[in-house]
Amino acid sequence: MALHRWLCVAAAAASTAWAMDPEQLISAPRRSEAIPNPKGNVAIFSTSQYSFDTHSSSASWNLLDLKSGKISLLTNDSNVSEIVWLGTDKSSLLYINGTNADVPGGVELWVTDVNNFANGYKAASLPAAFSGLKAVITSSGDVNYVASGQSYANGTAYNEELATKSLSSARIYDSIYVRHWDTYLTTTFNAVFSGTLAKKGKSYVSKGALKNLVSPVKNAESPYPPFGGSSDYDISPNGKLVTFKSKAPDVPRANLTTAYIYLVPHDGSRTAEPINGPDSPATPEGVQGDANNPVFSPGSDKIAYFQMADKSYESDRRVLYIHTIKSQKTVAVAEDWDRSPDSVKWVDAKNLIVGGEDKGRSRLFAVPVNAKKDFKPKKFTDGGVAGAYYLLPDKSVLVTGSTMWTSWNVYTASPKKNVIKTLASANKLDAGLAGLGPDDIDEFYYQGSATKIQSWIIYPKGFDKSKKYPVLLFIHGGPQGSWADSWSTRWNPKVFADQGYVVIAPNPTGSTGFGQKLTDDIQNNWGGAPYDDIVNAFEYAAKHLHYADTSRAVAAGASYGGFMINWIQGSDLGRKLKALVCHDGTFVADAKISTDELWFMEREFNGTFWGERDNYRRWDPSDPERILRFDTPQLIVHNDLDYRLPVAEGLSLFNVLQERGVPSRFLNFPDENHWVIHQENSLVWHQQVLGWLNKYSGVSKENPNAVSLDDTVIPVVDYNP
Ligand SMILES: *[C@@H]1O[C@H](CO)[C@@H](O)[C@H](O)[C@H]1NC(C)=O
Ligand SMILES: *[C@@H]1O[C@H](CO)[C@@H](O)[C@H](O)[C@H]1NC(C)=O
Ligand SMILES: *[C@@H]1O[C@H](CO)[C@@H](O)[C@H](O)[C@H]1NC(C)=O
Ligand SMILES: *[C@@H]1O[C@H](CO)[C@@H](O)[C@H](O)[C@H]1NC(C)=O
Ligand SMILES: *[C@@H]1O[C@H](CO)[C@@H](O)[C@H](O)[C@H]1NC(C)=O
Ligand SMILES: *[C@@H]1O[C@H](CO)[C@@H](O)[C@H](O)[C@H]1NC(C)=O
Repeated sequence: MALHRWLCVAAAAASTAWAMDPEQLISAPRRSEAIPNPKGNVAIFSTSQYSFDTHSSSASWNLLDLKSGKISLLTNDSNVSEIVWLGTDKSSLLYINGTNADVPGGVELWVTDVNNFANGYKAASLPAAFSGLKAVITSSGDVNYVASGQSYANGTAYNEELATKSLSSARIYDSIYVRHWDTYLTTTFNAVFSGTLAKKGKSYVSKGALKNLVSPVKNAESPYPPFGGSSDYDISPNGKLVTFKSKAPDVPRANLTTAYIYLVPHDGSRTAEPINGPDSPATPEGVQGDANNPVFSPGSDKIAYFQMADKSYESDRRVLYIHTIKSQKTVAVAEDWDRSPDSVKWVDAKNLIVGGEDKGRSRLFAVPVNAKKDFKPKKFTDGGVAGAYYLLPDKSVLVTGSTMWTSWNVYTASPKKNVIKTLASANKLDAGLAGLGPDDIDEFYYQGSATKIQSWIIYPKGFDKSKKYPVLLFIHGGPQGSWADSWSTRWNPKVFADQGYVVIAPNPTGSTGFGQKLTDDIQNNWGGAPYDDIVNAFEYAAKHLHYADTSRAVAAGASYGGFMINWIQGSDLGRKLKALVCHDGTFVADAKISTDELWFMEREFNGTFWGERDNYRRWDPSDPERILRFDTPQLIVHNDLDYRLPVAEGLSLFNVLQERGVPSRFLNFPDENHWVIHQENSLVWHQQVLGWLNKYSGVSKENPNAVSLDDTVIPVVDYNP
């Protein structure tokens, strides 16, 4: 049986160093950030893992000893859905129990001790499915907490299990933004709720009802879907205040990015007010874009947050602002820094740590609160991406990150000492990742269409530079994004390389992390400078990388990367490639109007398709002149729940390729969105995508272990005569 053969290959590969196949990638443990206790001697993290033997996932919570790096099990009870450290001692925990003894669809808050986890007690019953717990101990000894959940317009928490269902499935809309990412908008929305646990003797008991801090502001929503989470809100260290981000409720949601940072008393005694709204006294002039990541200072007297200036551009440069609550003053920090940071932590009242993309990595920087306009923050971490970080009592930070060669990497670092010590790394812990290491990757800079462009190289298992390997061009989406030195379970370049390719992953015009000009220069230029940059990367490989075989090169990309694949199909570069893969890309330029976030293409193409027709036509992969050139075998992946780029885009492209007689296949997942997430689907995705590339590059023929389309186990529908 085909699948059986594939499983055997996976088992065999596990014993060879340097090889990672899709099954190993997908079934490797996935670990969360490590969160240290207040004393800084131990950190907690969660692990989930999918098994292709049982076809199910398991999850556990673990402890990492911050001296020895030893990992131990805290609990694998599947009812434990979130755990936070409580207070200033080293062992108290508060957790969300995902079941509720009294309210179906509700959850419970439990208090316990890290040394005796199973002996906890229930402190509160919550009436719906809350998550994103943040808790502090107030001066009275009570616990003030916030958590997020769904809300009705009247502020009552929405509990899906108890909600009355309509007899009809109809939906009716009077405003645009009918659907977002993979969900149709409804009358319920996300909100931040606050609550208190009163100290009674040695334990905590629930005090009063939950307060909805968001719903009193009409049309506000926090966390903001689809990706907003607990970083969209914060509770002050003294427990008295809460801040949250919401899309501006007073402007059209679908065509502008404007967001406000709100401030509200924890007890909900006043309605939340924006600190950066059009009428707020401290709003920085001309700053109207997306705002995010509000974080209270240790003294509870200031809020740090980021905001972009442009109100219709989701990839404008984020500037860090500090708002002082009492004086209602806001100042920019290191305002001219040509980076777009996305995370911030307070070290103390005067110092901050800021994280953000920098040249294909995500690094941490030390920044004083009063940094002037021209201050140049100094990085103190280097390789990989620093995904999450927490301050330790000695003022070093505990960082959880990843690289292209390890899915999880926990280390300490500090502005004075840089990276101090690695405590744990997945490539040392997980059998499926054994043998992966920093030598698997390299980078080069080359002349692009206008400036120097960076590109990653990812080598295959057992790489021998005296041999030749077909080139796989990896084209990222966004387009404002980057290939970074980070782990991915969806487009993991190493799992592609290990089939037998040299993966070339350039960061062309439009990419983030190399200064705002490179990011901005893709506007109204989708098939221009970025295409030329990709061609130049290909030619650089042909000329300078003697181990790179460009005579049987292939290319793959998703989203904007899928647009670029379709653009390449109608361009000269397409004639030099043996196969293409377009995952959830765009094809018909005017069809972009069916997307969810209208600001995106209206900014990218500098207007609407009826107002600025030439801009859309200029970069239209479905231009008949281009279609007539289509000739390279192409796989199209497009999913039904993709509301960013609806499935009609992929179908249109497939119909064209089939009618033009170009070898092509359509792969569809009815239950996936812009991304393929479910493990069993991900396995099929990898099998088809790698199989397609391997077939046309010749890798299938030369590597008996390579993934092959011959092993397809899903019945292929083919009524061709
Ligand atoms: C939880 O961990 C215990 C101890 O390691 C183990 O015996 C048990 O099978 C695990 N249960 C689950 C559901 O993983
Ligand atoms: C979770 O709690 C429910 C009771 O609400 C119980 O029936 C179930 O067995 C628990 N699950 C585990 C893994 O303990
Ligand atoms: C979760 O809550 C249920 C219902 O109260 C309870 O039966 C179960 O023991 C709890 N589990 C944990 C781990 O707290
Ligand atoms: C809020 O609205 C929901 C849905 O209409 C309703 O079920 C609930 O009873 C209302 N809550 C209050 C306090 O009126
Ligand atoms: C944004 O959408 C609103 C309708 O919701 C419309 O009135 C307005 O003109 C649009 N603005 C832009 C800049 O497209
Ligand atoms: C966008 O359009 C405006 C006005 O229509 C124009 O001034 C501007 O130059 C255009 N920008 C680009 C990058 O095309």
